[in-house]
Amino acid sequence: MHSFINYLLFGWYPYVALTVLILGSIIRFDKGQYTWRSQSSQFLRRKQLMVGSNLFHLGVLILLFGHFVGLLTPIGFFDALGISHGFKQLMALIVGGIAGILGFIGCSLLLHRRLFDPRIRRSSSVGDILVLLLLWIQLLLGLATTIWTMDHLDGEAMVLFMGWAQGVLTFNPAAADLIIDAQLVYKVHIVLGLTLFLITPFSRLVHIWSAPVAYLLRPGYQVVRSRRLGRKSTTPVPAATSGSRPAASNK
Ligand code: HEM
Repeated sequence: MHSFINYLLFGWYPYVALTVLILGSIIRFDKGQYTWRSQSSQFLRRKQLMVGSNLFHLGVLILLFGHFVGLLTPIGFFDALGISHGFKQLMALIVGGIAGILGFIGCSLLLHRRLFDPRIRRSSSVGDILVLLLLWIQLLLGLATTIWTMDHLDGEAMVLFMGWAQGVLTFNPAAADLIIDAQLVYKVHIVLGLTLFLITPFSRLVHIWSAPVAYLLRPGYQVVRSRRLGRKSTTPVPAATSGSRPAASNK
């Protein structure tokens, strides 16, 4: 790839995408909180939504966590633990590959539902469909990278991607040079990944920031029923005649 285009895409575009992601999300939160939602279409074709959505979210959450830890942990950390580059690459391939397949099946179900159910199609905006389509392509591209990754299981290409990602986060755009010779499929995948960051504040993807993580980690709680209400519910309630007012307290 021409070094200027490489520098533009992998040295500067990441900063544009991350800045828009952060500032755009803050501004949308400030100005349009009522539009801050995932715009669920749960009441239509519920079963396909549930299966698709669960598979998609499970796959993508594993992938995002894997990408985050895999790309941003300094390689010295793995070296210190005695984890070889080849082993790390293999783990990324197996775990990421399985998560990618789950996410891809889920995303295909969601896309099918949105495109081919006339009621859902009518209630979807162009943005809703576009975001899903981009995620579907991104998952497909990610899975496609595994074909090339299998050709270099020593992990050396992965170390270059780690160097690039960590270079970007430490404000060193020259890190783009590290991946200048990477296969096109990886590059398209990365550029589309950055584009997904860029469009997040303008789409339903913004609900990522509101993921109910605290809910998952909540301390156990106790359900307490009032004794008085419990007793009351065993008392037979006289049948209401039509037009009569609901029965008042039964004390
Ligand atoms: C800017 C964001 C992203 C970057 C920089 C990025 C980078 C990468 C890289 C370098 C690989 C190859 C890893 C290797 O085998 O050495 C990869 C693989 C993959 N990516 Fe991404 N990616 C991004 C976003 C995403 C997103 C949003 C998804 C899913 C929606 C995704 C799904 C996948 C999948 C399925 C694979 C193949 C399995 C694996 O190796 O983990 N990626 N990505």
